[in-house]
Amino acid sequence: MAQLSSDSVLGVLRTVQDPDLKQDLVSLNMIRDLVVHDEGMVSFRVVLTTPACPLKAKIETDCRNAVLTLPGVKSIEIKMDSEVKARRGGVQGAQSIPGISHIIAVSSGKGGVGKSTVAVNLATALAMEGASVGLMDADVYGPNVPTMMGVTDQPKIVNDPARGEVFIPPLSHGVKVMSMGFLIQGDQPLVWRGPMLHSVVNQFCYKVDWGKLDYLVVDMPPGTGDVQLSLAQLVPVTGTLLVTTPQEVSMQDVRKAFHMFEKVRIPVMGVVENMSYFKCDQCDHQHFLFGEKGGRTLARKFNTELLAEIPIVTQVREGGDEGRPIVLRNPETEVAVAFRDLARKVAQQVSLLAHLEVDPSQIVQIGKFNEQSI
Ligand SMILES: Nc1ncnc2c1ncn2[C@@H]1O[C@H](COP(=O)(O)OP(=O)(O)OP(=O)(O)O)[C@@H](O)[C@H]1O
Ligand SMILES: [Mg+2]
Repeated sequence: MAQLSSDSVLGVLRTVQDPDLKQDLVSLNMIRDLVVHDEGMVSFRVVLTTPACPLKAKIETDCRNAVLTLPGVKSIEIKMDSEVKARRGGVQGAQSIPGISHIIAVSSGKGGVGKSTVAVNLATALAMEGASVGLMDADVYGPNVPTMMGVTDQPKIVNDPARGEVFIPPLSHGVKVMSMGFLIQGDQPLVWRGPMLHSVVNQFCYKVDWGKLDYLVVDMPPGTGDVQLSLAQLVPVTGTLLVTTPQEVSMQDVRKAFHMFEKVRIPVMGVVENMSYFKCDQCDHQHFLFGEKGGRTLARKFNTELLAEIPIVTQVREGGDEGRPIVLRNPETEVAVAFRDLARKVAQQVSLLAHLEVDPSQIVQIGKFNEQSI
């Protein structure tokens, strides 16, 4: 009978695939610290591409079952771990922020569709999965993130030998937060012009001590304007989500958004339909207050994925007002589960984009739409 050895264990682990990346775990260099101990004990780490991997449990079971086929194995110790691989790219001249692996933007064609709600829940859910996460509120006109994340502390300013004065972002629910809301006094409406906006976005990227982050989620202002362009010019953005409501029939706004993201080489990772339906306590029926399937139609027309359908739930609004995102406040509710699933899907897509290392202009093809179909 063949001796139980590291080689024989690696041999059977070669039969286990990462279902997304469609390669075996050994070739992907995901099996680390493999030790075959006396008495038939085998231990190793499986290093996935994200802590929020939706297939974590399946991959662990597949590994265990594969190793169990070897004669002489008495016990197996598997540690599920992760390393988020950074992505390069972006438009020419874009400079990655040291320490930040991925920048994920949350955008929309229109205002008031739930970008900030999606951004705070996405960031918090990713942090709950064990990722290191930052949240940049790039909505300089209406910065809602401090309220929605319940941040009361101001960012501290310290002197960094290399960068001069930098902001230390306050931490809330495990997420590092930076917002214009910290820097403006009272309810003064702001009048910003293009160059000023560029400078703010620049400072939020490079003059904030983000430290090491797997994901920096960016809550965008509505529409397509200077902030979106500045961000794309400054840093490589891994991808953006496009938030919509079911009735957002204004294809023109969305088409504009797609065109702009295509131009600035930001891949559209998918559509998030918010306020999809309302389920009342009385009858438990879904009521489609704002129409039905708008997000799905949109995703199909623009040849991208529908990543989530989020219902209208009073607790979501309450969570926002209280500064406790619903994923944390009521994690087991249907709506929180929808947000948590969304976070895992986004992490999965980001891993794929990072793994494929394709030219960003190619990735944009994923979200390339057919003008004829609109
Ligand atoms: N699924 C939901 N259920 C209930 N209320 C929601 C839901 N999504 C968002 N809201 C509420 O709708 C309002 C608008 O949402 P939000 O501020 O997230 O939109 P936005 O797109 O960021 O807006 P703006 O364009 O002004 O930045 C908020 O009061 C929020 O709490
Ligand atoms: Mg907002």
